[in-house]
Amino acid sequence: MTLWHGRFSGGMDDAMAAYTVSLPFDQQLFQEDLDGSRAHVQGLVHGGLLTSDEGAALLDALSVVNEELVGGTFVFDKADEDIHTAVERRVTELAGPTGAKLHTGRSRNDQVATDLRLWTKRNLALVKTDLLTFCDILTARATAAGETYLPGYTHVQRAQPVLLAHHFYAHGWSLLRDVDRLHDCMIRLDVSPLGAGALAGSSLPLDPDYTASLLGFARRFENSMDAVSDRDFVAEALFVLAMIGIHLSRMGEELVLWSSEEFGFCTLDDGFASGSSMLPQKKNADAAELARGKTGRLVGNLTGLLVTLKGLPLSYNRDLQEDKEPLFDSVNQVRLGLQAMGGAYATLQIHGVAMQRAADGGAIAAIDLAEYLVVKGTPFREAHAIVADLVRRSLDDGRELTELVANSEHFDEDATALLLPGVAVTRRTTPGGAGPTPVAEQAVRFARALDAAKQRV
Ligand code: ARG
Repeated sequence: MTLWHGRFSGGMDDAMAAYTVSLPFDQQLFQEDLDGSRAHVQGLVHGGLLTSDEGAALLDALSVVNEELVGGTFVFDKADEDIHTAVERRVTELAGPTGAKLHTGRSRNDQVATDLRLWTKRNLALVKTDLLTFCDILTARATAAGETYLPGYTHVQRAQPVLLAHHFYAHGWSLLRDVDRLHDCMIRLDVSPLGAGALAGSSLPLDPDYTASLLGFARRFENSMDAVSDRDFVAEALFVLAMIGIHLSRMGEELVLWSSEEFGFCTLDDGFASGSSMLPQKKNADAAELARGKTGRLVGNLTGLLVTLKGLPLSYNRDLQEDKEPLFDSVNQVRLGLQAMGGAYATLQIHGVAMQRAADGGAIAAIDLAEYLVVKGTPFREAHAIVADLVRRSLDDGRELTELVANSEHFDEDATALLLPGVAVTRRTTPGGAGPTPVAEQAVRFARALDAAKQRV
């Protein structure tokens, strides 16, 4: 039997039911639905709409429902359209006539908005924990990297040598920004819609401030129509999750490159790689590839919801039921991704010798030669041209740049020392730069920022 049978003469057509049912996915909200119902019952007692005995009977029934759902013994009915319907139906079976009072002053519209905000709040906190763990892993890798350096790339061309620690911290800062975005999103979603009713509030003595505080929300809604129709928080969460996915994707792409024979910068641990069903020699970076590939659905989830919301008139519309699957999927995928990629990073075997060999070759310290001339008074554009000319001759004639520098009228003898292995990276000394001095300072600042993010609740 539906919750609205009085108005209808017949039951729901099977095709209609199959199309509109949300129970298969909104079961995930059961804990939040029970929490919301408990707060609502307490609110009804508080407002004198239920006696304390009736309130206790409903809370007891909700406890039984909780045990059944947790224990997997809850029996769903064919007519249970969503988790809210299922819980109310079962409470009514357990508490008899008092059960019929559970939904007093409440609509599924404020109920589902409340449940989803609670769920999002709790789950974004878990995503935050995963991000912080990843930041700890990156810190450990940066610390262990010591003085190891590798080529820094622009346009995937070797550009300038950078400390490996600097490279790891670069990813760390992007993940810390994601933590910051999560916090920001959680501030705006921390609003209780309970008490908004179907869309207009109630004639009954409800106290939305009271139930908001029972549920641990920072505040109650300001406008009942906005409360039941606002899904900005889902869109914002999906954006933050897509952004995390994009960061993971970029890191994944890098692992794919680094672990290739062409780069040879690292070997993935066996636990975070897979083999080929045909080619015996293969070791593939599948988790890294999926971090890249799954970003498509994270962006799709965000885009899909934005399109769902676009053009919806106030207030609740059934379209809004489409908010849950993308959100559940994005949270799930991002958490799995952070854990798998975190593991891959934690266990990665670094080939420092190959990295440094790649960073010492060719003309990667060309800018140091140009800056050498700048310090001696040559205008930079001129210095650039002089060094570029040497680089071109070195490539054309197949001669070492060092030799050309040694024989150049523009340079004194000491200039060739700039091209010795490992020298260039030590010369990046400016704040936030890639050399040992600024990176040591950066390590302290990153640790401080990470600690502050951990303290923030
Ligand atoms: N399953 C619905 C949803 O997720 C619950 C709200 C239904 N409200 C309604 N008026 N039909 O949005």
